[in-house]
Amino acid sequence: GAADARSSRGMGDGASARQDTSRAARKDEHVALARAQEIRRNDFDSVAPIHHALGACDVAAVDLSTQVGPFTWPVPFYINGMTGGTEATGRINRVLAIAAREVGVPMASGSASVALDDPATASSFTVIREGNPRGFVMGNIGVGRSGADARRVVELLGADALQLHLNAGQEIVMPEGEREFSGWRASVEEIVAQAGVPVIVKEVGFGISRETQRVLADLGVHVVDVGGEGGTDFSRIENSRREAREYSYLAGFGQSAALCLLEAEAGSRLDLLASGGVRTPLDVVRSLILGARAAGVARQFLELAVQGEEAAVAGLRSWRDQVRALLALLGAQTVSAARQCQVLITGELAERARLRGVD
Ligand code: FNR
Repeated sequence: GAADARSSRGMGDGASARQDTSRAARKDEHVALARAQEIRRNDFDSVAPIHHALGACDVAAVDLSTQVGPFTWPVPFYINGMTGGTEATGRINRVLAIAAREVGVPMASGSASVALDDPATASSFTVIREGNPRGFVMGNIGVGRSGADARRVVELLGADALQLHLNAGQEIVMPEGEREFSGWRASVEEIVAQAGVPVIVKEVGFGISRETQRVLADLGVHVVDVGGEGGTDFSRIENSRREAREYSYLAGFGQSAALCLLEAEAGSRLDLLASGGVRTPLDVVRSLILGARAAGVARQFLELAVQGEEAAVAGLRSWRDQVRALLALLGAQTVSAARQCQVLITGELAERARLRGVD
């Protein structure tokens, strides 16, 4: 019926109550399958900041704070939406929440609609706020859920903002995935209107084109995470969950975060965030140079989380210190000054940007 159709939408949001076991299993599978992917070369390698030997500024003078929509974040990177819904993923969220609190890093939950459909799983999400009572927390929900559900996720987490994920490239390959996409624009509009907090629309690794950025701005969205290709690849993850694995050719489908930032309209109304294949603090800085307000990191912080609390705190501290050091090296005292840094765009990324009309 209609209720089942609704609850079957979104990133691993799917499934009616009778499928709850497999739905929980999927959350654990996503973690395992994401971790099994090799961390590869990607378009960030084609973004080469120009070094000026006398251009560095004092490390201590660098201000890492950044403006994202109506918010000021203490650092220009964040723990992107990943998980929750099972005991194991609840432990990951708890470790990440504590590290986020200790280092002052904004953090998103994984898609939390499972917690609406099966309240027994709620604690694996609420640990994110419990572990980090005053930090910046984002909820996460898939497009296609109701505005009321979006609001319930925000309330469950005490979230400051809501990530709303667009993931058609995943749903298509997901064995139990969504097949109806024509209602998605109306859904974005409804969720923006009813969430009760600012909504950050994100992709999950296929990119948000210039054209889609414009549509989102017209729908009332102010912050977009371009979530590009080159990192965790959900077409590969879902393909390996299919018996026949017929979609293997779709690996790498979509646009990289670097390309999405390059092709963004000059004077766009949106604040852009970059994610997808952010492997190092240098990739964060490359994103900032290309105009992102901050960069989202999923896989690399997942690796820290599975090593435990101490490693996660140390790891996030190290990223913060390295981003500060790299900005000083480039002579950027602020995150917005990084946009003035000179950069070479090489290889295929340059060609793709040119074909998309970027000069
Ligand atoms: C994700 N991602 C994700 N995104 C989202 O909006 N809702 C979700 O529930 C999930 N779930 C999820 C689980 C796992 C295990 C991973 C690794 C990732 C996608 C994530 O936010 C990000 O867009 C991509 O992972 C690309 O970033 P990385 O991994 O290359 O840094």
